[in-house]
Amino acid sequence: MRLDKLLVELNIGTRSEVKALLKKGLILVDGQKALKPEQKVDENSVVITYGGKDYSYQQYYYYIMNKPKGVITATEDAKDLTVMDLFYQKCPDAPKGLSPVGRLDKDTTGLLLITNDGKLAHELLSPKKHVDKTYFVTLDGELAEENIKELESGVHIGEGDLTEPAKVEYEGGNTCYITIHEGKFHQVKRMFFAVGKQVLELKRTGFGPLSLDEEKLPSGHISKLKCESFY
Ligand code: URA
Repeated sequence: MRLDKLLVELNIGTRSEVKALLKKGLILVDGQKALKPEQKVDENSVVITYGGKDYSYQQYYYYIMNKPKGVITATEDAKDLTVMDLFYQKCPDAPKGLSPVGRLDKDTTGLLLITNDGKLAHELLSPKKHVDKTYFVTLDGELAEENIKELESGVHIGEGDLTEPAKVEYEGGNTCYITIHEGKFHQVKRMFFAVGKQVLELKRTGFGPLSLDEEKLPSGHISKLKCESFY
């Protein structure tokens, strides 16, 4: 890969900014000053140093955000703060081109995966793959045994077929965990509505192999997963 392309991908600057940095001799390639934007480098092994910091290339990046309330799950929006606005505010050095996997409502909190691995995103969201999504739900009242049975065997949410079987872990009082593997629009809220309950608070705590640990990742925080790839 050309050196200037790599520097842009590493989010060191725009094409013209990195050219200027190279000209000033501010970029080291494997410890040696590099001056030519067109220099070819092996992106899989090279170490770039700039501003006292080492950068190495990774094809795929994975981050988990504990999404706070009030931000929308989109990459950009004319009026609302998006999860990606928040992400780049908190991680300005992260590479460009990342996106959230799936969608949480504006008032839903919790685990959101952010990556540039389109294949993984597709697999995690494909209805055929039956990837579990677990939510902690606060309701406007208690759940009856029959509500749990209905939710677990499938309810009508106005889309023809019943929802697929779910797993409910009742905590007592007005909270429970529900695990589903579909991802229809407002699915959890609509499922509880179908059994006569209103969802007051919704937090995603699990997504496929990932789970949310709020002691390590409080609301609004982001953590970079230390893996080259998910596979
Ligand atoms: N189900 C919902 O109703 N909302 C979400 O944000 C996620 C799942």
